[in-house]
Amino acid sequence: MAIDIGIETEAQKRIAGALGQVLGNTQGLYIKTHGYHWNVEGPMFNTLHLMFETQDNAHGCR
Ligand SMILES: [Fe+2]
Repeated sequence: MAIDIGIETEAQKRIAGALGQVLGNTQGLYIKTHGYHWNVEGPMFNTLHLMFETQDNAHGCR
């Protein structure tokens, strides 16, 4: 069934593909940022831990 939202079917497919890439990249960034947040070590621990937490929260993934 065709979806009529005022955008041609081929354009809908291209948009859906691009949005899928954005979603994948965003999820990848979220997972990496979370991993760095959890695994940071050393004398910069507090500063980096808080920085990664801020980035995590800014992406609204929670
Ligand atoms: Fe934490």
